[in-house]
Formats: sequence, structure tokens, C-alpha cells
Amino acid sequence: MKRTSHIPELREIIALEKEKGRKIALVPTMGFLHKGHLSLIEHAKQTDAFVVLSIFVNPLQFGPKEDLSRYPRDLERDARMVEEAGVDVLFHPMVEEMYPRPMVTFVEVSELDTMLCGATRPGHFRGVATVVSKLFHIAQPDMAFFGQKDYQQYKLIERMVIDLNLPIKIYPVPIVREEDGLAMSSRNVLLTSEQRQQAVILSKSLKAAEVSIRAGQRSAQEIERQLRERITLESDGVIDYVEIRDTDDLSKVTDIKRPILLALAVFFGKTRLIDNKVVEVDQDV
Ligand code: PAJ
Repeated sequence: MKRTSHIPELREIIALEKEKGRKIALVPTMGFLHKGHLSLIEHAKQTDAFVVLSIFVNPLQFGPKEDLSRYPRDLERDARMVEEAGVDVLFHPMVEEMYPRPMVTFVEVSELDTMLCGATRPGHFRGVATVVSKLFHIAQPDMAFFGQKDYQQYKLIERMVIDLNLPIKIYPVPIVREEDGLAMSSRNVLLTSEQRQQAVILSKSLKAAEVSIRAGQRSAQEIERQLRERITLESDGVIDYVEIRDTDDLSKVTDIKRPILLALAVFFGKTRLIDNKVVEVDQDV
């Protein structure tokens, strides 16, 4: 596996592969990798493309009171993991490489960036869209892989690519979970053992909501109420949001008729966890 922290060197490596007629697949990450990230790599590898994995903890997407300094990092461990997973080149730039001077140019995907996670994290998705768009310009991939764990992020990037006519295919990858159901996240290591146990309530309550919808419940308000009640009664988690949205445009849903996204964000202490579930519904039930 090749590795570099410099943009010109990465460009050279990629240009050589493109000359050979190879397609380029990009997997953007912030590191401290887990099986969720490995699943993105597996999906990328299945396309036979030359796989570029980036690790960059992007300051632009963290608010002033957020966990940028606490964000877990271990580059050497990550490098070993991705080499074993078959990544072709690891790109791990320093902040100065990505932002040599203060940024004045940003990519904003309006509407999609102010709802759900965007409502309590102002500027977060502008930071995400800007860095992903920089990575797209640097690596010029034919395809890029994003986890459905961050469903809103995936949708926002998909929309950015459409709106800006970027010739990049966006592949969504299903959520990878721990055995007890907790969605894998680099932030899970920040939980105390008690919080870690309690956090299972997120996936449990989402499953229960799905059961309730399958049993015929069609009121989004009622499903939201059930989710909130379960989380509050069975854990010390503090709810940021619990919402039911259209899977396509993330618009609000009142009657559950089409495929919907159950999405939530909950604080366990200082650590904010997100999870979601897509529920397909039969139109005629
Ligand atoms: P990060 O949180 O490191 O996630 C990198 C990618 O891994 C994202 O596409 C995310 O959705 C995916 N991922 C994380 N946990 C997952 C899980 N349990 N199952 C499946 N996929 C999972 O998301 C970011 O970094 C950043 O915002 C980034 C896109 C790199 C821009 O800075």
C-alpha cells in the first residue's frame, strides 16, 4: 500500500492509475477506523477500482464547543488496518496541507444542511460538503463510498454531486453494528462502560418502532413519541432529535406511506451518538 500526506504526490499516484485505464474509488474518513469503515473499503474493492482512503479529522466540520480535540486518533493502527483491507493508497494530510490559509470558499447544500443534525450543529454540513468537495477535486474519483450510518451526510453529498454535475457515482453502504446492535462509531470509545451499555437503547428503540410500523401504526407523531418515551425511560440519554423523514428528500412525514427514515441523535454525557433505520412500507396497508 502506498501512503502520502501530500496532495501533489497523491495526484501523481492517481494520474498514473488513470493512465492505465483504472477507475478510482474514494473512501473519505476521519480515521480511528472500525468495521463500518472496513465495509466501505470492501464495497469499494468489489468494483475493481483503485481504492483511495483518506483520513482527515476535518476542523471545518466541528463547532467551537464540539469534540475536535477529543476526537480519537491512531494513524499507525489505521494504516495497518487499511493495508490489510487492501486499500491501494492511504491519504492522510495534515491540516496545513488541506487548509494552508483561512478558507473563504465554501460549499453549502442549503435546506439539507439545516435540518436533523444540521439544526444543532450549525456549519457542520458546510464543513463536510466543503472538505468532501476538496477531496473530490484532489482525488478525482469515479465513485465514492458513504455509510448510511450518516444518512443525512450521504444524501447531502449525493445532492451536491447532482447540483454541481460532478462525474462521481455515490454508493451508500449499510450500517455496520456491534453484536448488541449499537451502530459502530469512532466516538463509541468515548463512552463510559455504563453509557456504552445504555447506548444499546438507540438500536433497540429503532427496532421496536419498525415493529410498530409493521403492525400497522401509520402516525409519524405516534412513532416519534414511542421512540422518545423508550429512550428517556430506559436510559440517561438526552435526546437531541428523534424524527421521521422521507428517505429520498428528507422532508417531514406525517402519515407513513412511503419508505421512511427513522433518525435520531442522543447525548450520553458529552458524547453525541446518531443512529437511524430505513423502514419500507407497503403502500396499501
Ligand atoms: P467518519 O465518521 O470517519 O466516517 C467515514 C465514513 O464511514 C462515512 O461515510 C460514514 O457514514 C461511514 N461509517 C461510519 N460508521 C459506520 C457504520 N457503523 N456503518 C457503515 N458506515 C459507517 O463521516 C465522516 O467521517 C466525515 O464527515 C467525512 C465524510 C470523512 C468528511 O470529513
